[in-house]
Amino acid sequence: MQNIVVLISGRGSNMVAIAQACRAQRWGARVAAVIGSRAAVAGLASAAAEGITTESLAHQDYAFREAYEEALATRIDAHEPHWVVLAGFMRILTPAFVQRYLGRMVNIHPSLLPAFPGLSTHERALAAGVRVHGATVHFVTPSLDDGPIIAQAAVPVRAGDDASLLAARVLAAEHQLYPMAVRWLVEGRVRLAGERVELRASEAVATIDPARGLPGGADAALLWCP
Ligand code: GRF
Repeated sequence: MQNIVVLISGRGSNMVAIAQACRAQRWGARVAAVIGSRAAVAGLASAAAEGITTESLAHQDYAFREAYEEALATRIDAHEPHWVVLAGFMRILTPAFVQRYLGRMVNIHPSLLPAFPGLSTHERALAAGVRVHGATVHFVTPSLDDGPIIAQAAVPVRAGDDASLLAARVLAAEHQLYPMAVRWLVEGRVRLAGERVELRASEAVATIDPARGLPGGADAALLWCP
Protein backbone atom coordinates (compact mmCIF):
# COMPACT_ATOMS: atom_id res chain seq x y z
CA MET A 1 0.00 0.00 0.00
CA GLN A 2 1.58 3.30 -1.08
CA ASN A 3 1.15 6.32 1.15
CA ILE A 4 0.19 9.71 -0.24
CA VAL A 5 0.56 12.88 1.82
CA VAL A 6 -1.34 15.90 0.53
CA LEU A 7 -0.45 19.49 1.43
CA ILE A 8 -3.17 22.13 1.19
CA SER A 9 -3.80 25.77 1.99
CA GLY A 10 -7.40 26.20 0.88
CA ARG A 11 -10.69 24.47 0.21
CA GLY A 12 -9.04 21.16 -0.72
CA SER A 13 -11.32 20.11 -3.53
CA ASN A 14 -8.48 18.52 -5.50
CA MET A 15 -7.41 16.64 -2.38
CA VAL A 16 -10.94 15.27 -1.97
CA ALA A 17 -11.05 14.27 -5.66
CA ILE A 18 -7.78 12.36 -5.24
CA ALA A 19 -8.82 10.69 -1.98
CA GLN A 20 -12.17 9.60 -3.43
CA ALA A 21 -10.69 8.30 -6.68
CA CYS A 22 -7.95 6.49 -4.79
CA ARG A 23 -10.51 4.68 -2.70
CA ALA A 24 -13.14 4.07 -5.39
CA GLN A 25 -10.66 2.86 -8.01
CA ARG A 26 -8.56 0.83 -5.54
CA TRP A 27 -5.21 2.22 -6.55
CA GLY A 28 -3.28 0.24 -3.95
CA ALA A 29 -2.58 3.53 -2.22
CA ARG A 30 -4.14 5.65 0.46
CA VAL A 31 -4.09 9.29 1.45
CA ALA A 32 -2.25 8.78 4.72
CA ALA A 33 -2.48 12.40 5.85
CA VAL A 34 -3.51 15.87 4.78
CA ILE A 35 -1.38 18.67 6.17
CA GLY A 36 -2.68 22.24 6.15
CA SER A 37 -0.53 25.35 6.11
CA ARG A 38 -2.54 26.61 9.10
CA ALA A 39 -5.22 25.22 11.39
CA ALA A 40 -8.02 27.21 9.77
CA VAL A 41 -7.54 25.72 6.31
CA ALA A 42 -11.05 24.83 5.13
CA GLY A 43 -10.01 21.64 3.37
CA LEU A 44 -8.92 20.02 6.63
CA ALA A 45 -12.57 19.56 7.58
CA SER A 46 -13.23 17.92 4.20
CA ALA A 47 -10.27 15.60 4.77
CA ALA A 48 -11.54 14.68 8.22
CA ALA A 49 -14.96 13.98 6.70
CA GLU A 50 -13.22 11.55 4.35
CA GLY A 51 -11.75 9.82 7.40
CA ILE A 52 -8.23 11.05 6.69
CA THR A 53 -5.72 12.04 9.37
CA THR A 54 -5.27 15.81 9.38
CA GLU A 55 -2.52 18.01 10.73
CA SER A 56 -1.56 21.63 10.37
CA LEU A 57 1.65 23.56 10.60
CA ALA A 58 1.68 27.36 10.50
CA HIS A 59 4.77 29.05 9.16
CA GLN A 60 4.15 31.96 11.55
CA ASP A 61 5.25 29.66 14.36
CA TYR A 62 8.73 29.40 12.87
CA ALA A 63 11.34 32.13 12.64
CA PHE A 64 12.90 30.93 9.41
CA ARG A 65 11.62 29.28 6.25
CA GLU A 66 14.16 26.50 6.73
CA ALA A 67 12.92 25.78 10.26
CA TYR A 68 9.35 25.58 9.02
CA GLU A 69 10.29 23.24 6.23
CA GLU A 70 12.32 21.03 8.55
CA ALA A 71 9.28 20.67 10.81
CA LEU A 72 7.05 20.10 7.80
CA ALA A 73 9.35 17.42 6.42
CA THR A 74 9.38 15.67 9.80
CA ARG A 75 5.57 15.62 9.79
CA ILE A 76 5.44 14.41 6.20
CA ASP A 77 8.06 11.71 6.70
CA ALA A 78 6.25 10.36 9.75
CA HIS A 79 3.68 9.04 7.27
CA GLU A 80 6.34 7.30 5.15
CA PRO A 81 5.01 8.79 1.93
CA HIS A 82 5.72 7.44 -1.50
CA TRP A 83 4.17 10.59 -2.93
CA VAL A 84 3.83 14.16 -1.72
CA VAL A 85 0.97 15.92 -3.48
CA LEU A 86 0.68 19.71 -3.40
CA ALA A 87 -2.94 20.68 -3.89
CA GLY A 88 -3.27 24.43 -3.58
CA PHE A 89 -0.39 24.63 -1.10
CA MET A 90 0.49 28.32 -1.04
CA ARG A 91 4.06 28.22 0.16
CA ILE A 92 7.17 28.76 -1.90
CA LEU A 93 9.50 25.86 -1.17
CA THR A 94 13.28 26.04 -0.82
CA PRO A 95 15.51 24.04 -3.17
CA ALA A 96 16.57 21.84 -0.23
CA PHE A 97 12.97 20.87 0.49
CA VAL A 98 12.26 20.26 -3.17
CA GLN A 99 15.41 18.15 -3.49
CA ARG A 100 14.35 16.00 -0.56
CA TYR A 101 11.22 14.91 -2.45
CA LEU A 102 12.49 15.21 -6.01
CA GLY A 103 10.64 12.81 -8.27
CA ARG A 104 8.10 12.12 -5.53
CA MET A 105 6.44 15.53 -5.20
CA VAL A 106 3.90 16.91 -7.66
CA ASN A 107 1.80 20.04 -8.00
CA ILE A 108 -1.22 21.21 -9.95
CA HIS A 109 -1.26 24.66 -11.48
CA PRO A 110 -4.39 26.26 -12.98
CA SER A 111 -3.02 27.06 -16.43
CA LEU A 112 -1.48 25.32 -19.39
CA LEU A 113 2.13 25.80 -18.36
CA PRO A 114 4.45 27.31 -19.38
CA ALA A 115 1.74 29.93 -19.99
CA PHE A 116 0.65 31.91 -16.95
CA PRO A 117 2.82 30.76 -14.06
CA GLY A 118 2.08 32.49 -10.75
CA LEU A 119 -1.23 33.88 -9.50
CA SER A 120 -4.46 35.16 -11.15
CA THR A 121 -4.10 32.74 -14.04
CA HIS A 122 -7.73 32.92 -15.16
CA GLU A 123 -7.79 36.72 -15.27
CA ARG A 124 -4.54 36.73 -17.23
CA ALA A 125 -5.78 34.09 -19.65
CA LEU A 126 -8.88 36.18 -20.36
CA ALA A 127 -6.80 39.35 -20.74
CA ALA A 128 -4.52 37.57 -23.20
CA GLY A 129 -7.51 36.40 -25.23
CA VAL A 130 -6.48 32.74 -25.34
CA ARG A 131 -9.06 30.33 -26.76
CA VAL A 132 -7.82 27.36 -24.75
CA HIS A 133 -6.96 27.34 -21.07
CA GLY A 134 -6.52 24.58 -18.54
CA ALA A 135 -4.42 23.00 -15.83
CA THR A 136 -1.08 21.25 -15.53
CA VAL A 137 0.24 18.56 -13.20
CA HIS A 138 4.01 18.64 -12.95
CA PHE A 139 6.86 17.32 -10.87
CA VAL A 140 8.05 19.97 -8.45
CA THR A 141 11.47 21.42 -9.14
CA PRO A 142 13.08 24.45 -7.49
CA SER A 143 11.61 27.07 -9.86
CA LEU A 144 8.07 28.23 -9.19
CA ASP A 145 5.29 26.63 -11.27
CA ASP A 146 7.85 24.87 -13.39
CA GLY A 147 9.00 21.31 -13.63
CA PRO A 148 8.52 18.43 -16.01
CA ILE A 149 4.91 18.10 -17.11
CA ILE A 150 3.06 14.89 -16.31
CA ALA A 151 -0.37 15.73 -17.69
CA GLN A 152 -2.49 18.65 -18.81
CA ALA A 153 -6.19 19.29 -19.21
CA ALA A 154 -7.41 21.81 -21.72
CA VAL A 155 -10.77 23.56 -21.59
CA PRO A 156 -12.28 26.05 -23.99
CA VAL A 157 -12.54 29.73 -23.21
CA ARG A 158 -16.07 30.68 -24.14
CA ALA A 159 -17.59 33.98 -25.17
CA GLY A 160 -18.98 35.66 -22.09
CA ASP A 161 -16.57 33.97 -19.70
CA ASP A 162 -15.45 35.87 -16.67
CA ALA A 163 -12.69 34.72 -14.35
CA SER A 164 -15.01 32.80 -12.05
CA LEU A 165 -16.78 30.95 -14.88
CA LEU A 166 -13.45 30.03 -16.39
CA ALA A 167 -12.03 29.03 -13.00
CA ALA A 168 -14.99 26.71 -12.40
CA ARG A 169 -14.49 25.05 -15.80
CA VAL A 170 -10.79 24.58 -15.15
CA LEU A 171 -11.41 23.29 -11.62
CA ALA A 172 -13.83 20.65 -12.89
CA ALA A 173 -11.11 19.50 -15.27
CA GLU A 174 -8.56 19.55 -12.44
CA HIS A 175 -10.74 17.14 -10.49
CA GLN A 176 -10.33 14.59 -13.26
CA LEU A 177 -6.78 15.45 -14.22
CA TYR A 178 -5.10 15.33 -10.83
CA PRO A 179 -6.46 11.95 -9.71
CA MET A 180 -5.51 10.53 -13.11
CA ALA A 181 -1.96 11.84 -12.84
CA VAL A 182 -1.47 10.64 -9.26
CA ARG A 183 -2.82 7.26 -10.25
CA TRP A 184 -0.22 7.12 -13.04
CA LEU A 185 2.47 7.75 -10.42
CA VAL A 186 1.14 5.07 -8.08
CA GLU A 187 0.96 2.58 -10.92
CA GLY A 188 4.48 3.38 -12.09
CA ARG A 189 3.30 4.63 -15.47
CA VAL A 190 5.22 7.90 -15.23
CA ARG A 191 8.44 8.86 -13.54
CA LEU A 192 10.88 11.71 -13.46
CA ALA A 193 13.93 10.97 -15.57
CA GLY A 194 16.31 13.89 -15.25
CA GLU A 195 14.57 16.92 -16.72
CA ARG A 196 11.91 14.89 -18.51
CA VAL A 197 8.90 12.83 -17.63
CA GLU A 198 9.19 9.28 -18.79
CA LEU A 199 5.86 7.82 -19.81
CA ARG A 200 5.67 4.07 -19.54
CA ALA A 201 2.16 3.62 -20.82
CA SER A 202 0.52 4.03 -24.14
CA GLU A 203 -2.43 5.82 -22.54
CA ALA A 204 -1.30 9.20 -23.76
CA VAL A 205 -4.72 10.70 -24.35
CA ALA A 206 -7.83 10.35 -22.24
CA THR A 207 -10.98 12.27 -22.93
CA ILE A 208 -12.74 13.80 -19.98
CA ASP A 209 -15.78 11.75 -19.13
CA PRO A 210 -18.68 13.72 -20.64
CA ALA A 211 -21.12 11.92 -18.35
CA ARG A 212 -19.61 13.74 -15.39
CA GLY A 213 -19.90 17.00 -17.25
CA LEU A 214 -18.13 20.28 -17.01
CA PRO A 215 -19.80 23.66 -16.54
CA GLY A 216 -20.44 24.99 -20.01
CA GLY A 217 -19.99 21.59 -21.66
CA ALA A 218 -17.27 19.00 -21.58
CA ASP A 219 -17.02 18.50 -25.31
CA ALA A 220 -13.72 20.21 -25.94
CA ALA A 221 -11.81 19.13 -22.87
CA LEU A 222 -8.96 16.71 -23.27
CA LEU A 223 -6.40 15.29 -20.93
CA TRP A 224 -3.09 14.31 -22.33
CA CYS A 225 0.43 13.46 -21.45
CA PRO A 226 3.09 15.05 -23.64
C1 GRF B 1 -6.49 24.86 -7.76
O1 GRF B 1 -7.00 25.73 -8.72
C2 GRF B 1 -5.09 24.47 -8.10
O2 GRF B 1 -4.85 24.41 -9.47
C3 GRF B 1 -4.27 25.56 -7.48
O3 GRF B 1 -4.93 25.88 -6.30
C4 GRF B 1 -6.30 25.54 -6.41
C5 GRF B 1 -6.62 24.63 -5.28
O4 GRF B 1 -8.00 24.38 -5.20
N1 GRF B 1 -2.91 25.15 -7.28
P1 GRF B 1 -8.52 23.32 -4.13
O5 GRF B 1 -8.00 23.76 -2.77
O6 GRF B 1 -7.99 21.99 -4.53
O7 GRF B 1 -10.01 23.38 -4.19
